[in-house]
Amino acid sequence: MEQVQLHDKVFEPFIKEDVILGAVKEVAASINKDLAGKTPLFLIILNGSFMFASDLLKEINLDCETSFVKLSSYEGTKSTNNVKHLIGLNEYLKDRHIIIVEDIIDTGNTLHHVLQELELHHPKDIKIATFLYKPKAFTKDFKIDYIGIEIPNDFIVGYGLDYNGFGRNLKEIYKIVE
Ligand code: IMP
Ligand code: MG
Repeated sequence: MEQVQLHDKVFEPFIKEDVILGAVKEVAASINKDLAGKTPLFLIILNGSFMFASDLLKEINLDCETSFVKLSSYEGTKSTNNVKHLIGLNEYLKDRHIIIVEDIIDTGNTLHHVLQELELHHPKDIKIATFLYKPKAFTKDFKIDYIGIEIPNDFIVGYGLDYNGFGRNLKEIYKIVE
């Protein structure tokens, strides 16, 4: 793996594909075990989680549904408090087991708003599966049920994550060179 340049920034290799896929399998195994016998609805938060969701769902052996929803709160390399609403939510959520599929939890602001919005629909329960988690940036207190990999507070790209629109297609994860 070599460095990549996206816009004005340079990124260096950080997490390799075999490590990524191993972590995804562990998350899937935990979900398969915890939700055995249930019929969950996976709520995939676009755009960033499309690669994680794809690899994760291939390993899920439950009877399940998937729904793709969207919201966006991120510009450049800093999270903002400017959280938008969930769009594309067409399923009836009452009494459902919901599993939110997220690419990364940074401050937690985005998911905090998503959770508040989902609670209004009275699901049976909501679990959160995030591929990446930055514990040092997290400012909320909701429980994160499934975490693929914990990372430091560096800005990263690849495996669905972007820097101003670029880098989502990279199959490994890169971190910014400051
Ligand atoms: P939060 O609201 O601060 O938790 O940020 C969540 C969203 O910010 C994620 O869903 C990503 O879209 C984006 N994000 C957070 N950290 C990064 C990063 O290191 N690289 C790219 N996007 C990020
Ligand atoms: Mg996201």
